[in-house]
Amino acid sequence: MTGFPIVARHDISDATFILEVHHPLMARAARAGQFVIVMSHPEGERIPLTIADFDRELGTVTLVVQAVGKTTREMQQTCHVGTSLHGVAGPLGQPSPLGTARTVVCVGGGLGVAPVYPQARAHKERGATVIGVLGFRSAELVFWEDKFREVCDELILCTDDGSAGIHGLVTDGLELAMERYPDVGEVVAIGPPVMMQACAEATRPTGVHTVVSLNPIMVDGTGMCGGCRVRVGDGVRFACVDGPDFDGHKVDFADLRSRLTRYRGEEAQALAHWEH
Ligand code: FES
Repeated sequence: MTGFPIVARHDISDATFILEVHHPLMARAARAGQFVIVMSHPEGERIPLTIADFDRELGTVTLVVQAVGKTTREMQQTCHVGTSLHGVAGPLGQPSPLGTARTVVCVGGGLGVAPVYPQARAHKERGATVIGVLGFRSAELVFWEDKFREVCDELILCTDDGSAGIHGLVTDGLELAMERYPDVGEVVAIGPPVMMQACAEATRPTGVHTVVSLNPIMVDGTGMCGGCRVRVGDGVRFACVDGPDFDGHKVDFADLRSRLTRYRGEEAQALAHWEH
C-alpha cells in the first residue's frame, strides 16, 4: 500500500470523524500546536488539518476532520481503516509556546476540543496545573473525556442543553475555572472564531495571557500564497508560518471572520459539482 495507512477511525457525529494515521516520522517530529497538509488521493485538494494527537511509540498521528466541504465530505466516504492517505506533509506551523504559567486553563469548543488536547498534555508534562474546559452541544457529542481526565487536574464539561456537565457555554466554564483558581497564568482557547473571541474578551479585564489557535483559509501552508493572512495587533501575520497560535487579545476577529466567508460561493459550487 502506498501513502500513509489509516489504522483507526472514530466517528464523533454525522459530520465529524477522527483518523489515526501511521506515519512514524511525523509522530516523532510533531509538537503541540502544529498542523499537516493532507491529500487524500493523488488528484485531491490539499487541506490543512491540525495534529490532534501523536503517539511516538506507535508511530501514529491523529487528525480530526469535519465533513463540511467537497474534499472533507469525500474523505468521510472514502477514508476507512485499510485505506491510506496519499500525502501528509508537515509538521507545519510553530509549536505552541508553552510559557511558564503555573496554572493553565485549556478551553476547547466543539471541534477545537481535539487540538487543545496536545496543548493540555504538554502543559501537564512541564509540571503545570491544568484545568480543562470543554464545550459540546449535548452529551452524545462528548468525546475524549477520559483522555482529558488523564492530563487535567480538573475537567469542567459544558453543554448547550445541560445534558452533561454544566448547562452553559465554555465562557461560563472558563469563568468558573478563573474563580476557582485565582493563580491562572495562561488560557489556551481553541474552537470556532466566535468562541475564541468570547474567551479572549472574558480574560481581557484580568490581563491573563490568552492564546488562540487560528486555522483560517490555508492553501499551501508554507507562507507562499498569502491566503492565511490575519491581522494581529498592528501587523499582518501568516497563520501558517507565524502561527497558528496568537495572542487572543491582539487578533482582529472581525477581519478573520470576513476572510473565512470569502470563498463560500466557490466551495458551494465545488460541493454541488461533486455531488452530481
Ligand atoms: Fe499560504 Fe499561509 S497558507 S501563506
